[in-house]
Amino acid sequence: MNNTSNTVYLNGAYKPVEEATISVMDRGFLFGDGVYEVIPVFGNKLLRAKGHLERLKNSLGRISLQDPHSDDEWLQIFSGLLERNPGDDRAIYLQISRGAYPGRDLGIKTDYPPTIFAMVLHVTAPVIEVVSAGISAITVDDFRWSACDIKSTSLVASVMLKQQAADAGVDDAILIRNSMLSEGTASNVFIVKDGVLSTPPTGHELLSGITRDLVIEIAKNNAILVEERHIEATELLDADEIWMTSSTREIAPVIRLNGEMVGSGKAGDMWKLMVDMYQQHKQLLRIGKAF
Ligand code: PDD
Repeated sequence: MNNTSNTVYLNGAYKPVEEATISVMDRGFLFGDGVYEVIPVFGNKLLRAKGHLERLKNSLGRISLQDPHSDDEWLQIFSGLLERNPGDDRAIYLQISRGAYPGRDLGIKTDYPPTIFAMVLHVTAPVIEVVSAGISAITVDDFRWSACDIKSTSLVASVMLKQQAADAGVDDAILIRNSMLSEGTASNVFIVKDGVLSTPPTGHELLSGITRDLVIEIAKNNAILVEERHIEATELLDADEIWMTSSTREIAPVIRLNGEMVGSGKAGDMWKLMVDMYQQHKQLLRIGKAF
């Protein structure tokens, strides 16, 4: 077992991962017909549980799949899973697919139950000295669909885009649609220019990241100017700093883009400030003084 749980949750029962099996007719397998969430856990506390459950509801609503549980039921399922997979820094992976139908037919039928699966990912706490070394990225054409606000398990486009980055020998790709910045392969993107933090507005072109929201909230609470606005691809080349944010990456500074240095070619001052405040938020969460 590498970074996943020994005990998983599947359709109402906790069981060893080896015993958790689903039908080959599952629409998640046949069509990628499902949605997911990744919720960070520090100590025993879920980061922004409400935000993640709200986004889950949006994803389910967008694909016309009824939410099988209330928020309280979800939280109970998660705490049962965390109890069975102890640790400190972890993340809950939750996936709901439209379940298994007898035939292969795109049409939706409401009389089959969804497949509900959750597991714990054991994440390594980011070591700030390592993260501050920064990552490299390339810009690539965002050829995904126009429903990127759905956290869909149909991720083949993202797999292809991430492979473009790997083929170019860099860590990740920043996606450009019609000359405008959308997001990363599995993260949101911020730029810093002249002390102002900017990120594209939410919409169908990108996922409304929970880390994105938290970074914006922390910035606003600390008198950092934040703009949610459309960002031209050319602004990336001119940015003082570029960050990629996600539940698993937290806030990663991009220090090289398309082979060129970003700003000074090192993690910037604004990043250092933000990452400190983000770590403080996590500490407060651990002792129940933040959510
Ligand atoms: N991905 N954009 C995309 C396309 C993503 O896949 C993610 C997260 C984000 C950032 O969202 P958040 O801050 O809520 O993690 C933005 C998760 C981590 C994943 O697929 O593993």
